[in-house]
Amino acid sequence: MKSIRLIYYDEIDSTNEELKRNINNFEEFTVILADFQSKGKGRNNREWFSPKGENLYFSFILESKIEIKYLSGLPIIIGFSILKILEEFIKNKKIYIKWPNDIIVESKKICGILVEYYKNKIIAGIGLNVNSENFPNFQENNPTSVKLETGKDFDRLIILKIFLKKFQKFYLEFQKVKKIPDNILLEINDKLFLKNEDVLIEFHNSFETGKIQGINEVGALILDNKLIYAGDVKKIRRRGK
Ligand code: BTN
Repeated sequence: MKSIRLIYYDEIDSTNEELKRNINNFEEFTVILADFQSKGKGRNNREWFSPKGENLYFSFILESKIEIKYLSGLPIIIGFSILKILEEFIKNKKIYIKWPNDIIVESKKICGILVEYYKNKIIAGIGLNVNSENFPNFQENNPTSVKLETGKDFDRLIILKIFLKKFQKFYLEFQKVKKIPDNILLEINDKLFLKNEDVLIEFHNSFETGKIQGINEVGALILDNKLIYAGDVKKIRRRGK
Protein backbone atom coordinates (compact mmCIF):
# COMPACT_ATOMS: atom_id res chain seq x y z
CA MET A 1 0.00 0.00 0.00
CA LYS A 2 1.29 3.46 -0.88
CA SER A 3 1.84 5.59 2.22
CA ILE A 4 -0.94 7.96 3.11
CA ARG A 5 -0.73 11.31 4.86
CA LEU A 6 -3.87 12.13 6.79
CA ILE A 7 -4.57 15.75 7.77
CA TYR A 8 -7.48 16.30 10.12
CA TYR A 9 -9.53 19.47 10.68
CA ASP A 10 -12.21 20.03 13.30
CA GLU A 11 -13.76 22.44 10.84
CA ILE A 12 -13.13 23.51 7.25
CA ASP A 13 -15.20 25.10 4.49
CA SER A 14 -14.79 22.15 2.12
CA THR A 15 -12.13 19.42 2.07
CA ASN A 16 -11.98 19.67 -1.76
CA GLU A 17 -11.29 23.41 -1.51
CA GLU A 18 -8.59 22.90 1.13
CA LEU A 19 -6.78 20.48 -1.17
CA LYS A 20 -7.02 22.95 -4.06
CA ARG A 21 -5.51 25.72 -1.95
CA ASN A 22 -2.57 23.45 -1.11
CA ILE A 23 -2.29 21.59 -4.39
CA ASN A 24 1.42 22.39 -4.76
CA ASN A 25 2.35 21.39 -1.19
CA PHE A 26 0.57 18.09 -0.90
CA GLU A 27 1.64 14.82 -2.46
CA GLU A 28 -0.41 12.03 -3.94
CA PHE A 29 -2.58 10.29 -1.37
CA THR A 30 -2.69 13.23 0.99
CA VAL A 31 -6.09 12.91 2.62
CA ILE A 32 -7.94 15.82 4.19
CA LEU A 33 -10.55 14.73 6.70
CA ALA A 34 -12.95 17.10 8.46
CA ASP A 35 -15.36 16.67 11.34
CA PHE A 36 -17.51 19.52 10.00
CA GLN A 37 -17.74 21.38 6.67
CA SER A 38 -19.23 24.87 6.68
CA LYS A 39 -19.55 24.88 2.87
CA GLY A 40 -19.72 21.24 1.83
CA LYS A 41 -20.08 21.10 -1.96
CA GLY A 42 -22.01 18.62 -4.02
CA ARG A 43 -22.02 18.20 -7.80
CA ASN A 44 -23.60 20.98 -9.89
CA ASN A 45 -23.09 23.54 -7.13
CA ARG A 46 -25.39 21.77 -4.76
CA GLU A 47 -24.79 21.92 -1.03
CA TRP A 48 -23.53 18.81 0.79
CA PHE A 49 -25.04 18.30 4.24
CA SER A 50 -22.03 18.12 6.61
CA PRO A 51 -23.10 18.27 10.28
CA LYS A 52 -20.44 18.07 12.97
CA GLY A 53 -19.25 14.69 14.16
CA GLU A 54 -21.75 12.56 12.26
CA ASN A 55 -20.43 11.51 8.86
CA LEU A 56 -17.32 11.12 6.74
CA TYR A 57 -16.20 14.15 4.74
CA PHE A 58 -12.81 13.67 3.11
CA SER A 59 -10.84 14.38 -0.04
CA PHE A 60 -7.58 13.07 -1.47
CA ILE A 61 -5.17 13.93 -4.28
CA LEU A 62 -4.18 11.64 -7.10
CA GLU A 63 -1.44 12.34 -9.59
CA SER A 64 -2.38 9.96 -12.30
CA LYS A 65 0.39 8.96 -14.64
CA ILE A 66 -2.18 7.81 -17.16
CA GLU A 67 -3.42 10.10 -19.89
CA ILE A 68 -6.52 12.17 -19.27
CA LYS A 69 -8.50 10.23 -21.88
CA TYR A 70 -8.30 7.12 -19.72
CA LEU A 71 -9.38 8.88 -16.54
CA SER A 72 -13.14 8.85 -17.08
CA GLY A 73 -13.39 5.48 -15.35
CA LEU A 74 -11.80 6.75 -12.16
CA PRO A 75 -14.98 8.10 -10.47
CA ILE A 76 -16.56 4.70 -11.07
CA ILE A 77 -13.60 2.95 -9.40
CA ILE A 78 -13.99 5.23 -6.37
CA GLY A 79 -17.72 4.55 -6.20
CA PHE A 80 -17.11 0.82 -6.53
CA SER A 81 -14.69 0.89 -3.55
CA ILE A 82 -17.39 2.53 -1.40
CA LEU A 83 -19.99 0.05 -2.58
CA LYS A 84 -17.76 -2.87 -1.55
CA ILE A 85 -17.33 -1.46 1.99
CA LEU A 86 -21.02 -0.78 2.41
CA GLU A 87 -21.82 -4.34 1.40
CA GLU A 88 -19.77 -5.49 4.40
CA PHE A 89 -21.76 -3.36 6.83
CA ILE A 90 -25.26 -3.30 5.37
CA LYS A 91 -26.49 -6.84 4.91
CA ASN A 92 -29.68 -7.98 3.20
CA LYS A 93 -30.22 -4.72 1.32
CA LYS A 94 -29.53 -3.98 -2.31
CA ILE A 95 -26.72 -1.48 -2.82
CA TYR A 96 -26.31 0.17 -6.21
CA ILE A 97 -24.00 2.51 -8.09
CA LYS A 98 -25.94 5.31 -9.70
CA TRP A 99 -23.95 6.56 -12.68
CA PRO A 100 -21.60 8.36 -12.53
CA ASN A 101 -20.83 7.73 -8.87
CA ASP A 102 -23.58 8.03 -6.28
CA ILE A 103 -24.13 5.09 -4.00
CA ILE A 104 -27.72 4.10 -3.36
CA VAL A 105 -29.19 1.73 -0.77
CA GLU A 106 -32.50 0.35 -2.08
CA SER A 107 -33.62 3.74 -3.47
CA LYS A 108 -31.89 6.17 -1.10
CA LYS A 109 -28.61 8.02 -1.55
CA ILE A 110 -25.97 7.22 1.08
CA CYS A 111 -22.80 8.59 -0.55
CA GLY A 112 -21.84 11.30 -3.01
CA ILE A 113 -18.51 11.69 -4.79
CA LEU A 114 -17.15 14.88 -6.31
CA VAL A 115 -14.14 14.41 -8.59
CA GLU A 116 -12.45 17.59 -9.81
CA TYR A 117 -9.49 18.00 -12.17
CA TYR A 118 -7.33 20.83 -10.92
CA LYS A 119 -3.87 21.90 -12.10
CA ASN A 120 -3.23 18.51 -13.71
CA LYS A 121 -4.12 16.66 -10.55
CA ILE A 122 -7.24 14.87 -9.47
CA ILE A 123 -9.14 15.80 -6.35
CA ALA A 124 -11.60 13.21 -5.16
CA GLY A 125 -14.03 14.25 -2.43
CA ILE A 126 -16.29 11.79 -0.69
CA GLY A 127 -19.27 12.42 1.52
CA LEU A 128 -20.50 9.23 3.16
CA ASN A 129 -23.49 9.44 5.49
CA VAL A 130 -22.40 7.31 8.42
CA ASN A 131 -24.24 8.26 11.62
CA SER A 132 -26.73 11.01 10.65
CA GLU A 133 -30.33 10.23 11.49
CA ASN A 134 -32.01 13.41 10.28
CA PHE A 135 -31.51 15.21 6.99
CA PRO A 136 -32.71 18.62 5.87
CA ASN A 137 -35.09 18.92 2.95
CA PHE A 138 -32.58 20.37 0.50
CA GLN A 139 -30.86 17.07 -0.14
CA GLU A 140 -32.00 15.33 -3.29
CA ASN A 141 -32.64 11.65 -3.63
CA ASN A 142 -34.08 10.85 -0.27
CA PRO A 143 -30.88 10.49 1.80
CA THR A 144 -30.00 7.67 4.16
CA SER A 145 -27.02 6.69 6.34
CA VAL A 146 -25.26 3.52 7.50
CA LYS A 147 -26.89 4.05 10.92
CA LEU A 148 -30.39 4.39 9.47
CA GLU A 149 -29.86 1.22 7.43
CA THR A 150 -28.39 -0.89 10.22
CA GLY A 151 -29.57 0.67 13.49
CA LYS A 152 -25.94 0.87 14.67
CA ASP A 153 -23.36 3.61 15.18
CA PHE A 154 -20.16 3.22 13.17
CA ASP A 155 -16.58 4.37 13.75
CA ARG A 156 -15.85 6.76 10.88
CA LEU A 157 -12.08 6.28 11.01
CA ILE A 158 -12.37 2.53 10.62
CA ILE A 159 -14.53 3.02 7.52
CA LEU A 160 -12.02 5.52 6.11
CA LYS A 161 -9.15 3.10 6.65
CA ILE A 162 -10.94 0.24 4.92
CA PHE A 163 -11.86 2.55 2.03
CA LEU A 164 -8.28 3.70 1.45
CA LYS A 165 -6.99 0.14 1.42
CA LYS A 166 -9.66 -1.10 -0.97
CA PHE A 167 -9.39 1.92 -3.25
CA GLN A 168 -5.61 1.64 -3.56
CA LYS A 169 -5.94 -1.96 -4.69
CA PHE A 170 -8.59 -1.20 -7.34
CA TYR A 171 -6.75 1.97 -8.45
CA LEU A 172 -3.57 -0.01 -9.05
CA GLU A 173 -5.44 -2.48 -11.25
CA PHE A 174 -7.16 0.40 -13.07
CA GLN A 175 -3.84 2.10 -13.80
CA LYS A 176 -2.34 -1.15 -15.06
CA VAL A 177 -5.06 -1.94 -17.60
CA LYS A 178 -6.05 1.71 -18.32
CA LYS A 179 -9.74 0.93 -18.12
CA ILE A 180 -12.21 -0.43 -15.60
CA PRO A 181 -10.99 -4.03 -15.06
CA ASP A 182 -13.36 -6.64 -16.58
CA ASN A 183 -14.38 -8.32 -13.31
CA ILE A 184 -15.17 -4.96 -11.69
CA LEU A 185 -17.14 -3.79 -14.75
CA LEU A 186 -19.20 -6.97 -14.69
CA GLU A 187 -20.10 -6.42 -11.05
CA ILE A 188 -20.85 -2.73 -11.58
CA ASN A 189 -23.21 -3.52 -14.44
CA ASP A 190 -24.93 -6.01 -12.19
CA LYS A 191 -25.38 -3.38 -9.49
CA LEU A 192 -26.18 -0.40 -11.71
CA PHE A 193 -29.09 1.71 -10.48
CA LEU A 194 -31.94 2.15 -13.01
CA LYS A 195 -30.49 -0.37 -15.46
CA ASN A 196 -33.02 -1.16 -18.21
CA GLU A 197 -35.14 1.80 -17.09
CA ASP A 198 -36.15 4.85 -19.10
CA VAL A 199 -34.24 7.88 -17.85
CA LEU A 200 -33.54 11.50 -18.60
CA ILE A 201 -29.93 12.68 -18.51
CA GLU A 202 -29.55 16.38 -17.77
CA PHE A 203 -26.38 18.17 -18.78
CA HIS A 204 -26.13 21.96 -18.49
CA ASN A 205 -28.91 23.15 -20.80
CA SER A 206 -29.41 19.98 -22.76
CA PHE A 207 -30.81 16.55 -22.10
CA GLU A 208 -31.03 13.06 -23.55
CA THR A 209 -33.58 10.37 -22.93
CA GLY A 210 -33.31 6.62 -23.34
CA LYS A 211 -33.00 3.28 -21.62
CA ILE A 212 -29.87 2.59 -19.55
CA GLN A 213 -28.04 -0.41 -21.04
CA GLY A 214 -24.93 -0.30 -18.83
CA ILE A 215 -21.54 1.29 -18.29
CA ASN A 216 -18.62 0.67 -20.66
CA GLU A 217 -14.93 0.09 -19.85
CA VAL A 218 -14.11 3.82 -19.75
CA GLY A 219 -17.02 4.61 -17.45
CA ALA A 220 -19.37 6.10 -20.05
CA LEU A 221 -23.08 5.41 -19.68
CA ILE A 222 -24.64 3.42 -22.52
CA LEU A 223 -28.05 4.96 -23.18
CA ASP A 224 -29.76 3.00 -25.98
CA ASN A 225 -26.92 3.13 -28.51
CA LYS A 226 -25.43 6.45 -27.37
CA LEU A 227 -22.46 6.95 -25.07
CA ILE A 228 -22.89 9.61 -22.37
CA TYR A 229 -19.83 11.00 -20.60
CA ALA A 230 -21.38 13.49 -18.16
CA GLY A 231 -24.76 14.41 -16.73
CA ASP A 232 -27.32 13.78 -14.03
CA VAL A 233 -29.64 10.78 -14.29
CA LYS A 234 -33.36 11.14 -13.52
CA LYS A 235 -35.90 8.37 -13.75
CA ILE A 236 -38.78 9.03 -16.13
CA ARG A 237 -42.04 8.23 -14.47
CA ARG A 238 -44.68 7.02 -16.88
CA ARG A 239 -48.24 8.08 -16.25
CA GLY A 240 -50.00 5.70 -13.92
CA LYS A 241 -46.72 4.32 -12.50
C1 BTN B 1 -22.60 14.84 -4.77
O1 BTN B 1 -23.21 13.79 -4.67
O2 BTN B 1 -23.17 15.84 -5.21
C2 BTN B 1 -21.14 14.91 -4.34
C3 BTN B 1 -20.98 15.17 -2.89
C4 BTN B 1 -19.54 15.24 -2.43
C5 BTN B 1 -19.40 15.67 -0.99
C6 BTN B 1 -17.98 15.57 -0.49
S1 BTN B 1 -17.86 15.77 1.26
C7 BTN B 1 -16.11 15.87 1.15
C8 BTN B 1 -15.81 16.68 -0.09
N1 BTN B 1 -15.81 18.10 0.24
C9 BTN B 1 -16.82 18.74 -0.35
O3 BTN B 1 -17.07 19.96 -0.21
N2 BTN B 1 -17.51 17.91 -1.12
C10 BTN B 1 -16.98 16.55 -1.07
